[in-house]
Amino acid sequence: MTSQTRTHPALLVPSSSASASAAPDLVLAASRPVPQDFVLGVATAAYQIEGARHEDGRTDSIWDTFSHTPGAVVGGDTGDVACEHYHRYEADVELMRSLGMQSYRFSTSWDRICPDGGAVNARGLDFYERLVDSLLAAGIAPWLTLYHWDLPQALEDRGGWTSRETADRFVDYALAVHDRLGDRVRTWTTLNEPFCSAFLGYTAGMHAPGRTSPADGLAAAHHLLLAHGRVVQQLRARDADLELGLTLNFTVADPLDPSDPRDVDAARRVDGQMNRIFLDPVFRGSYPADLLDDVRHLGFEDHVRDGDLEVISAPIDVLGVNYYNGEAIGHEPPAAALDDSVNGGRTTRSPFPAADDAHRHPRGLPLTAMDWEIQPDGLTRLLVRLQTEYAGPAGVALHVTENGAAFEDVPDEGGFVEDRDRTAYVRAHLGAVLDAVDAGVPVRGYFYWSLLDNFEWAWGYAKRFGIVRVDYDTQVRTPKASALDYARIIATRRLPNPWAELTEDGPDPDPAGERRR
Ligand code: FCB
Repeated sequence: MTSQTRTHPALLVPSSSASASAAPDLVLAASRPVPQDFVLGVATAAYQIEGARHEDGRTDSIWDTFSHTPGAVVGGDTGDVACEHYHRYEADVELMRSLGMQSYRFSTSWDRICPDGGAVNARGLDFYERLVDSLLAAGIAPWLTLYHWDLPQALEDRGGWTSRETADRFVDYALAVHDRLGDRVRTWTTLNEPFCSAFLGYTAGMHAPGRTSPADGLAAAHHLLLAHGRVVQQLRARDADLELGLTLNFTVADPLDPSDPRDVDAARRVDGQMNRIFLDPVFRGSYPADLLDDVRHLGFEDHVRDGDLEVISAPIDVLGVNYYNGEAIGHEPPAAALDDSVNGGRTTRSPFPAADDAHRHPRGLPLTAMDWEIQPDGLTRLLVRLQTEYAGPAGVALHVTENGAAFEDVPDEGGFVEDRDRTAYVRAHLGAVLDAVDAGVPVRGYFYWSLLDNFEWAWGYAKRFGIVRVDYDTQVRTPKASALDYARIIATRRLPNPWAELTEDGPDPDPAGERRR
């Protein structure tokens, strides 16, 4: 891990548009300040990095089952070994410390802590206690997510998230984690991206457990929300000082032709079934009326019992915002589709339970290796909207809990990746967050996804999101240029202007030039 101290010249010398002899001061001159209290960090998730599949009592989750299903994951990849973080956590914490990370968002594995969804396994908790203590010793604030998609397979066998009982088991598990770590971890988020758990997992068939049922996805969404609300209530009752919330992933769904009512309606459905289906019950204690109309034929409301919405709307302190891209939605398919679906020959379908006539249209924006459009201004618009319509009135803080990009990294012979594309991406999106701050949205911080290259779900190890390269043969970690740039932003509290230095070599996230200064 010696390369972590390497300073790549590309990060110090302005390229292309500035003179090669210009001093680093010029870069700073084109930069903007990052507020002193704005927290910068990185995020990961248990199944994507830990490995150690059956060690110390851990049993299988739905992702173990799914990844071992032929054709489910690209390359037949599994999380059995992943980044071996379970054994290398100390070095990974030291790496974060050396990069200056202020906070680390990680998830705990339900299957390690409550194997088969049942009794508590002390050895599973021991691991997270060691991890949290290492973080605290390194001066890095731990941000704990209780559920990042790894449901115990034994619970899936009893119905998984389509069963109400799973919410009860989730409370048992959450309280066990709190028993051990409640004195050291201040920020607790219940769920990561329930949209993906419910609709990629139970409706689209793209993620574990691989079901393709619109009705099951809706049942799962409600029970996930119920599990969230119950845990918030119980943790709040135990300790009023905890900072509690959940993380949602959002799209910014723009109608392809705003003057065509059919496109407007298609975009409304996508917004309803991805964003508002979670936001409204949490912040307003009700599901949106238009959503209920759209999904009425699927029996959604049969799962909603008296009192559920009161539980789900238990007050939270922080909303985690995950943003990767927005989309232009039309009612007809485009001539050439953006294709980020992956099915390895499996049967998959749209994740939206009732938006079969909604289609994503390419807008000519540059793409990441996931075929996701690069659209930083969507993040500014999203944060302003969330603040205005939801978080602001409720007095809830916003924090970007994920944002990042996969690109086709090319390491040099020493394993170093000069990822100007990812560097530009991070700068542009951090700038978009600061634009929202300037517009009056009190965003508290930003986690880059991800610290390490890791198991990218159905894409296996084929897509690399890390600011640190992982050589999966040797497990050697090598910070990429983006990691060094991010470290420099954290150390200097200044965000360089992405457009001045990097557009020649990386994709231009602003082809219209609107944001260039
Ligand atoms: C998010 C997930 C995260 C990672 C990124 C790329 O949806 O929360 O685990 O896979 O996408």
